[in-house]
Amino acid sequence: MTNKINYNRRQFLQHSAFGAAALTAFPKMLFAKAGQLQNKATPGFKADVEIQFVSRDAYIPILKNGGKTKVQKYYAELLKGPKNTLVELKNNYLGPILNFVKGQKVRIYYKNMLSEPSIIHWHGLHVPQHSDGHPMYSLDPGQSYVYEFEVMNNAGTSFYHSHSHNLTAEQVYKGLAGLITVTDSEEQKLDLPRDEYDLPFVIQDRTFNTQNQLQYLHGMHGRMTGFLGKDILVNGTPNAEFSVKTRAYRLRAVNGSNSRIYKLGWDDGTPLTAIGTDAHLLEKPETRPYLMFAPGERIDLWLDFSGRSVGSKLVIYSLPYEGAMPPKMEEQRLGKKSSGGMGGGMMGGGMMSSGLGQGDKFPIATFKITEKVSDSPKLPKTLGPFERLTEASVDNPNKPIPIGIEMKPMRPMLNGKSFSMNRVLDFERVELGSIKKIKIFHDHGSMKMEEGEKMDKDMDMSGGKMKMEGGGGMGMMGGGMGGGMMMSMAHPIHLHGQQFQVLSREIEGMRQEEYKTVKEGFIDTGWKDTVLVMPGEEIVIAKPFQDYKGLFLYHCHNLEHEDLGMMRQFYIG
Ligand code: C2O
Ligand code: CU
Ligand code: CU
Repeated sequence: MTNKINYNRRQFLQHSAFGAAALTAFPKMLFAKAGQLQNKATPGFKADVEIQFVSRDAYIPILKNGGKTKVQKYYAELLKGPKNTLVELKNNYLGPILNFVKGQKVRIYYKNMLSEPSIIHWHGLHVPQHSDGHPMYSLDPGQSYVYEFEVMNNAGTSFYHSHSHNLTAEQVYKGLAGLITVTDSEEQKLDLPRDEYDLPFVIQDRTFNTQNQLQYLHGMHGRMTGFLGKDILVNGTPNAEFSVKTRAYRLRAVNGSNSRIYKLGWDDGTPLTAIGTDAHLLEKPETRPYLMFAPGERIDLWLDFSGRSVGSKLVIYSLPYEGAMPPKMEEQRLGKKSSGGMGGGMMGGGMMSSGLGQGDKFPIATFKITEKVSDSPKLPKTLGPFERLTEASVDNPNKPIPIGIEMKPMRPMLNGKSFSMNRVLDFERVELGSIKKIKIFHDHGSMKMEEGEKMDKDMDMSGGKMKMEGGGGMGMMGGGMGGGMMMSMAHPIHLHGQQFQVLSREIEGMRQEEYKTVKEGFIDTGWKDTVLVMPGEEIVIAKPFQDYKGLFLYHCHNLEHEDLGMMRQFYIG
């Protein structure tokens, strides 16, 4: 496979071909320097932790019956640092769990031994651009990279995954992901469940063929809505079961799925209590009847089995909800009137056969109570120091930076643009040290393809056929609905670098009935790095851009959307 990314990198190193209009006076040298692979350790960086990482093909027994499954997997070896820094999940396609401590200096040697390009991103960690796994650093087979960063994050849950543009979705799907925990002295003061009571809970969906091999999407249909698998896996295992004692547990839930959004809830209606969102503990625990959980998000849950009887079990479900998919598809999924129009046929085709639609009900994992114990930590009332951002924290209260979500036919975009490795728009340049107000919204601008606009080559390479079935333009799909709303769907928007806080979440006008099935499931009181934007929603966030200069991505964490170009970047300088 040719490394288009590396080619692009080299090309922009040579030509620095930035859009002149949008980028007057851009520091070209900085860009050029940024593109260089870091393949040597910096002598001045005294690492507390050193890890050797490798990505390669592997065969793993995932399903009980039949043969092993070919996957792509991260293998790691601890060269220096506390023993518990690396914890292997046995017989698993997931990479080892990385346990970091705030303040540690970490050096990671990464060698890509796949037969295709790849690079690792540490999702949730606040690290310098050089260590953030920007796709411009995508490694050819056999190439190596050296990451060096100090763990700046407070205690929380993060995860790492591949981030090679156009390959991210498929590589994560094939296994290139793993969980990260960070602890700090504030968290240590709390009496939270630890060790065997602190459980990883990585949720993913996969589809296997009759030979136990992973099936991924082919063609454009599924890519537009995102991959939805038939089987639900937790920590790399289908039909996951946990044996638990009658006490409190911490569950580090990571949604490592490509595009599936879960509505987490217990079968018996017990509410869920969260103590953390994304990479940070909350100010205080939050309890909800259910929790919406989108790709890229993490939720640290407090599960208390105290008082339950030995022998009983509790099942965590994804409960039914509506509104995440474009209206025609949603109608089809719910078996409402058949649309008849081409919209449903085109969009629904591939998806209907997948079995588990976006918003369907299904079990995720079973907790069996197997042992009675008398001691259990109590849920803390508060979870440590928390710095609250408000309107007053931002330096652009009246001029928020836009993140406009747009679904062009076969081409989801942000701010009217697809990803470009070497472009930054004027408003994507932010000053180091600033805290910005950012408004994320659905931009239902023009629905038809702009005059003369062609699908770009990237699409050809990645998507197979792009011809639309039925031969009609998207205009036809609109039916009674106005333009782009026809394509409106849920998007989990992720910003690299530091976490942000949600200042407001509003829904206007459309799809209110469907919205009722999800609206109690959002926790917006903590630090976030990924936020689910439902159709009709407008979300305002406050985002600090501190400590590190450089290029930091923002994108849809529906990984198919990301690979289709629904990604941009900020330049912090
Ligand atoms: Cu988890 Cu840029 O992604
Ligand atoms: Cu990230
Ligand atoms: Cu999206």
